[in-house]
Amino acid sequence: MFVKIAGTGSFLPERVVDNFEIARKVDTSDEWIQTRTGIRTRHIATDETVAGMAAKAAERALENAGISPEEIDLIIVSTVSAEQSLPCIACDVQKALGAKRAAAFDVNSACSGFITGYQAAAAQIKAGLVKTALVIGSECLSNYVDWTDRGTCILFGDGAGAAILKADCAPEDIQIPCVLHADGSLGEALTCSLGHGKHKVPFDEYYRMDGKAIFKFAVRKVPEVIREVLKMSGHTADEIDFFVLHQANKRIIDAIAKRLRQDESKFPMNIMDNGNISSACIPMLLDDMNRKGILKPGTKLVLAGFGAGLTWGGFYLEW
Ligand code: ACO
Repeated sequence: MFVKIAGTGSFLPERVVDNFEIARKVDTSDEWIQTRTGIRTRHIATDETVAGMAAKAAERALENAGISPEEIDLIIVSTVSAEQSLPCIACDVQKALGAKRAAAFDVNSACSGFITGYQAAAAQIKAGLVKTALVIGSECLSNYVDWTDRGTCILFGDGAGAAILKADCAPEDIQIPCVLHADGSLGEALTCSLGHGKHKVPFDEYYRMDGKAIFKFAVRKVPEVIREVLKMSGHTADEIDFFVLHQANKRIIDAIAKRLRQDESKFPMNIMDNGNISSACIPMLLDDMNRKGILKPGTKLVLAGFGAGLTWGGFYLEW
């Protein structure tokens, strides 16, 4: 028995920026971006905020699950791109929803953030501390994108995805086939310094990335962590209906599918339309699949993320 996802929701800012618009700002082309990443468009916030997008995605997830805000015991928001450091985004969401009973906190493990949030919430449910949790990934990456750096500005987008977590059994019967990893020694591969601390001079408030290093890391580590999750859950890759992965680059996902010897059709993607939205990618993709009716009771999923830190992780989920 597992901690299930009882409802999903997502939110995208209205403004769509295509590759042609980016090619007017930096030396690149639609053809280069599509061939190297799979991305055609991304949504970019105008006046939307991380907290506002998180709350909208959460409202939709509550509606989808058919539960009221008062039923939520815990809100976890994953973000790396908030406009504020205090209060935490989860507290803003709690206020916006009127989820008066809920405890609230944020996590930052970059693009692995939804996996981290799921594990923290599932562990609290298994411990009997909470019954219903709301886990959100919300990102306004355009807050920290350097629009003169063609190596990064082509990749990122804005948006939010949310999921309601509930157990369908007694806490003591819950299994959590979830694993998280980190390697701080590789942290230089993707950085952003806010420059507010006394010791942060000189600082760089934009995302700086060694794209090749992250590419290689992802292609090696994600299949490994998926195999770990499969072992924990007692399944083979062939038994899994869908692998829901962080949407960083279509070529990374294709390479992972190949390494796992699984058909590409088992790897749903929204990167073409949305770009990389860090911790929002996975819950947004789940919401998309949920609303299209692709997820049926008993559908077997492995979700896996990787990103700055460097961090990576995954979990097994039955719909
Ligand atoms: N348009 C045109 N040319 C470009 C662009 C661009 N947008 N960006 C780089 N180039 C050039 C480079 O300058 C380089 O030129 P050179 O050979 O003359 O020096 C050439 O293209 C090749 O550059 P590479 O960096 O080797 O290109 P690569 O094939 O590795 O693609 C990319 C770059 C798309 C960033 C790729 O490395 C990638 O996707 N890496 C993974 C990044 C990632 O997943 N990041 C996020 C994970 S963490 C998180 O999600 C927050």
